[in-house]
Amino acid sequence: MSLTKDFPRVELSHKPTPLELLKNVSAEFATNVWIKRDDCTGLAFGGNKSRQLEFYLGQALKEGADTLLTTGAVQSNHVRMTVAAARKMGLEVEVQLEHRVAREQPEYHNSGNPYLVKLMGAKISYYPEGEDEDGADKALEVRAAEIAARGGKAYVIPLSNAHTPYGALGYVDGAEELMAQLDALQIEPVRFVVPTGSASTHTGFLLGVRACGCVAPVHGVCVRRDGVSQMQRVKAKLNSVIEVIGTHIRIPDDDIICDDSMLAPGYGLPSEATVDAIRYLARREGVLLDPTYSGKTFALLIDMLKRGDFGHDDHVVFLHTGGTASLFGYPELVDDE
Ligand SMILES: Cc1ncc(COP(=O)(O)O)c(C=O)c1O
Repeated sequence: MSLTKDFPRVELSHKPTPLELLKNVSAEFATNVWIKRDDCTGLAFGGNKSRQLEFYLGQALKEGADTLLTTGAVQSNHVRMTVAAARKMGLEVEVQLEHRVAREQPEYHNSGNPYLVKLMGAKISYYPEGEDEDGADKALEVRAAEIAARGGKAYVIPLSNAHTPYGALGYVDGAEELMAQLDALQIEPVRFVVPTGSASTHTGFLLGVRACGCVAPVHGVCVRRDGVSQMQRVKAKLNSVIEVIGTHIRIPDDDIICDDSMLAPGYGLPSEATVDAIRYLARREGVLLDPTYSGKTFALLIDMLKRGDFGHDDHVVFLHTGGTASLFGYPELVDDE
């Protein structure tokens, strides 16, 4: 029985998302490389955030909210999907876009996610800092108070780690869904490779996999901060998810992998390896990645494959969390060839 069954939620995603073998990649590296297609969750271009939003929206509706507020980078997929979720549920929505990534290209500011946010008619404000999670969250609370003063009720989906981690519940479910698919195929994976940013995906996924009795390492690929800081973040989030669910499962520190070898040159800035990974998967399999999250994560998996980390009979699973809308904010992926 699912660990999340008692929490309020709404349906926002196409589930189960497909689990596919990347046949050409598997043949090239003589191992079995699987992809869990959470880029196909279906909500306004899809991605991991719809699983998380199912629980935030469940909570928002339970509390009688009429407006959603959230914050994120200019090319935030979370912001785009929050707007879509609000629209699907008939709610008003206001978003705060942070200047987090030093990119001047007009496409970064107008194409991809910000374009879709405008298309869906969200009210947009801007926040000058990109590394001030507490300040960004506080600005949302100020706006929520203004909405309350005129008789409305806003629900804030915050950025920082200091809140009840409803989003992570979505990936407890996501892991349970994936484990059922692997079980049906009688596959025992040797490793999962997942991005780790706000850490909701990584944390929920790790807990969900362990709750299903699978001991394969969950390799978190840092996309936002260095491995030591990310480890602290995942640990704190794990504690709060465990507490809110009320489970007896415990995850020891040495079971938390936060690998920051693909982080440089920084959040939202793809390295050459990331650009190569995006082009490689697009051209080898017709599967689209993104420059901030899934591209970096797959780039790390390519490193492992090239090193020969997996045997012929091994199965490794890459969690594709989406982000593809942001490709349109990075025209240099094809322009600079
Ligand atoms: C496409 C994509 N993948 C991965 C992540 C990271 O997920 P999390 O924030 O749950 O760590 C994000 C976060 O915004 C995302 O948009």
